[in-house]
Amino acid sequence: MKQDSSELQAQVEALRTDARRELPQLKGLEACEGFRVRYLGRKGMITRLFELMKSLPPEARPAAGKLLNRAKRELEQALGERQQQIRLSSQAQQLEAEALDVTLPGRPVALGHLHLMSQTLREIYRIFARLGFQMERTREVESDEYNFQLLNIPPGHPARDMWSTFYTTRPGLLLRTHTSPGQIRVMRRYAPQPVRAILPGKCYRYEQVDATHEMQFYQVEGLAVGREITMAHLKGVLIEFVRQLFGQERRVELRASYFPFTEPSLEVAMDCIACGGRGCRICSGTGWLEILGSGMVHPVVLQNGGYDPDLFSGFAFGIGPERVAMLKYHIEDIRLFYSNDLRFTEQFG
Ligand code: PHE
Repeated sequence: MKQDSSELQAQVEALRTDARRELPQLKGLEACEGFRVRYLGRKGMITRLFELMKSLPPEARPAAGKLLNRAKRELEQALGERQQQIRLSSQAQQLEAEALDVTLPGRPVALGHLHLMSQTLREIYRIFARLGFQMERTREVESDEYNFQLLNIPPGHPARDMWSTFYTTRPGLLLRTHTSPGQIRVMRRYAPQPVRAILPGKCYRYEQVDATHEMQFYQVEGLAVGREITMAHLKGVLIEFVRQLFGQERRVELRASYFPFTEPSLEVAMDCIACGGRGCRICSGTGWLEILGSGMVHPVVLQNGGYDPDLFSGFAFGIGPERVAMLKYHIEDIRLFYSNDLRFTEQFG
């Protein structure tokens, strides 16, 4: 019987040795679980030793029980420590893998710049500011009355064919086809005081879009109303504008034209900036580039604006900034302004 007890002791010792060797080799929590089942599980080695103990003589059992219980606690504790080690080291590995180098320089935030259209508009504003023109805001959604009728274009007038637009579901309300209705709004704002203003903003037309036509574009309207304003003033302002924008050497030609709201009407052209007037692809071989429409404000329009046409006169003009930018920067397709292609916009930073 003594023999059996010491045999049990030897087995416990062997089990301890095995466990001590195995534990440090357990690589993950799953391996730990396997270890637990093998040593401490319900059919594990410790359980088997407890069963063996039953065959010891009764007086040897308490000591053997103590021995086994101690061995069991030791194993549980050693396993617990190993599991904890594994958890910590996998956490450390994860931290290492996700390490953040706080000494790296930050990524620079890309700073944008003004779009070429904004730049062009501002250049135009600056020129007219120097010429004494103030800036007036006018609306993009207009009435048929302002967009057409008050500008001498009654329903059925053939000039309406030049300005086909988008209509809203409210009868008589449309997207303006030009900034000219702003003339009436500004005159009504200031009459009978004299006024000298530019009215920039977006316009809309129902167009077949191509390289030179968009259905949305800018205009910069100009208006000067006062006593004794003459065509000489119109001429001086527009020639100065063209030369400040395109170079002092520009030759400017004023040609008779027609608009229902100006009388007389003029078209302003300059010698081609690409060929200097010899004739090229840009000016379609003519040597000249038309750049804006203008004229003396029609007496009926003055009256609609609240001025007495016997005492007041004025001039008006309409500039297409997209066309200005296309000429100045050799841009061949108006659609580039509104397609938001960075390869285009970034060229003008
Ligand atoms: N509103 C005209 C257009 O769109 C331009 C213009 C403005 C002409 C002012 C004369 C005077 O085409």
